[in-house]
Amino acid sequence: MKTIRLGDEAPNFTAETTEGDINFHEWLGDSWGILFSHPADYTPVCTTELGAVAKYKKEFDKRNTKVIALSVDGLESHKDWIKDINATQNTTVNFPIIADEDHKVSNLYDMIHPNADSKHTVRSVFVIAPDKTVKLTITYPASTGRNFDELLRVIDSLQLTAYHKVATPANWTDGDDCVIVPAVSSEEAKKMFPKGFNEVRPYLRMTPQPNKN
Ligand code: BEZ
Repeated sequence: MKTIRLGDEAPNFTAETTEGDINFHEWLGDSWGILFSHPADYTPVCTTELGAVAKYKKEFDKRNTKVIALSVDGLESHKDWIKDINATQNTTVNFPIIADEDHKVSNLYDMIHPNADSKHTVRSVFVIAPDKTVKLTITYPASTGRNFDELLRVIDSLQLTAYHKVATPANWTDGDDCVIVPAVSSEEAKKMFPKGFNEVRPYLRMTPQPNKN
C-alpha cells in the first residue's frame, strides 16, 4: 500500500455505490472531488456527518465539487441507513456512498489504521483537483465529527490559488485579504491585481480577495 501524498495522482478504482457502479476518475470528470470515509453505518457521529454533507449540496455545486462517501459496509446496509439519515437529519442524501466490503478502496487510500481500529475505516478526507491530483488529506478519529465548513474554506482557498494565484493567510475566511503567491513578481502583480497590493515585506504581499467586488 502506497502512502498518498499531496500532488500525487488520486488512485483510480471501480466501485459499487448507492448510485450505481462507478469508475472514480470518470465519475469525477472535470470536477473537483471530495472522497471521505466514515467508520460504519448506523453509528451516531457518521449519521450526523452524512446528513450535514447532504445539506451542503448547493455549496459543493457552487464550487464545482462532487462528493462521495465510503465505508466497509455493504450496499443494502448503506441503502437502509440512508433512510435513517434522511429521517433523523431532516434531509435527503444526494451523493453516492461506496460499499467497500472487500476493503479494496480503503486499502488503496490507506483508510484503515489498524492500531486505531483493525476492521473499520477512520475519518479520512481527500480533496482532488480536476487534474486528479490530491490537494488535501486529513484524518480524523472515529469519535470526532468533521467540520464541513472548514472543508469548504479549504476548497475556496485551493480554488483561489488555482485560478487567481493567491494563497490564504492564517484563519482566512471568505472576503478577507489574500497573499500573493511568491511565484508572482511584484511587476506581474501590478498587472494581475488591479485593486492593488500592500507590500508588507517583499515576500509578504497582501491583496483584496480577487474574486470579490
Ligand atoms: C461514531 O458514531 O461513528 C462513533 C462514535 C463514538 C466513537 C466511535 C465512533
